[in-house]
Amino acid sequence: MARSLIGGLLNDHYPAAKLCAADPDEGQRQQLNAALGIATHANNSDACTDADIIVLAVKPQIMAGACQALAPVIADARPLIISIAAGIQTTSLKNWLGDSQAIVRTMPNTPSLVGSGAAALFASKAVNDEQRQQAESILRAVGLTLWLKDEADMDAVTALSGSGPAYFFLLMELMQKIGEEMGLSREAARLLTLQTGFGATKMALESELDCAELRRRVTSPGGTTEQAINKLLDGNIDNLIDEALNAARERAKELATLLGKS
Ligand SMILES: NC(=O)c1ccc[n+]([C@@H]2O[C@H](COP(=O)([O-])OP(=O)(O)OC[C@H]3O[C@@H](n4cnc5c(N)ncnc54)[C@H](OP(=O)(O)O)[C@@H]3O)[C@@H](O)[C@H]2O)c1
Repeated sequence: MARSLIGGLLNDHYPAAKLCAADPDEGQRQQLNAALGIATHANNSDACTDADIIVLAVKPQIMAGACQALAPVIADARPLIISIAAGIQTTSLKNWLGDSQAIVRTMPNTPSLVGSGAAALFASKAVNDEQRQQAESILRAVGLTLWLKDEADMDAVTALSGSGPAYFFLLMELMQKIGEEMGLSREAARLLTLQTGFGATKMALESELDCAELRRRVTSPGGTTEQAINKLLDGNIDNLIDEALNAARERAKELATLLGKS
């Protein structure tokens, strides 16, 4: 994730000389340095001394330790802190980093790796307008951004767009498999599935009509699409999606409680 954000900023012509990254693994540092041409550090304190903006991109399980070690380094400078860690609430970050720190919590998703991510952001009270814009422009370098007024909505975002790419992958996996079982070659089934997913998304993004109306317009009475859609609805696909997203949201809440205790 950190690598994709750095890549996005460089693509946006942000100067490499103003960026640096920390990673305990020497191999990772060498790779980052060679691939992206930015300075790297073995420890977080060295990377964060004098930083205006710090992006925390370690795994949620080790976030408490990483933050607690960083707290004395940033105590006076009070840079903008952006956390991309799933499930870590701003209250926990403030506990570990200091109550007055300017913290933005964001939930990006994996298509950020190809510049087509979707990220929701939430700003703590100490974040000023300039810092909001800075946080937004970093995440916008790898996709769409939107702000949340209520941090509690981050659990719904996690269920919808955070985990969402996997739902689409599952649907495409199944369509491709059945296309093959119907006699199409592996490559034909793959290409037709992926281009259909891409085309439908592009159409929905570019259209003024909502998805329900777009669906109605491609479902002619008595036609083939109607047969398939009726099967999906008879099989209670709407309840299933409802249950799936709510299960993801409940798990996001549980993880937030668990990780905040660290
Ligand atoms: N992947 C996603 O789709 C996604 C979506 C939304 C949010 N996120 C969040 O993004 C964060 C990163 O996820 P990821 O998938 O990019 O994980 P990742 O590939 O494991 O990246 C974490 C990086 O942090 C490095 N690291 C480990 N300990 C460190 C320390 N003490 N100080 C500095 N760096 C350290 C790791 O280095 P080593 O490899 O050398 O251990 C690794 O390069 C997570 O908090 C995750 O919740 C990810």
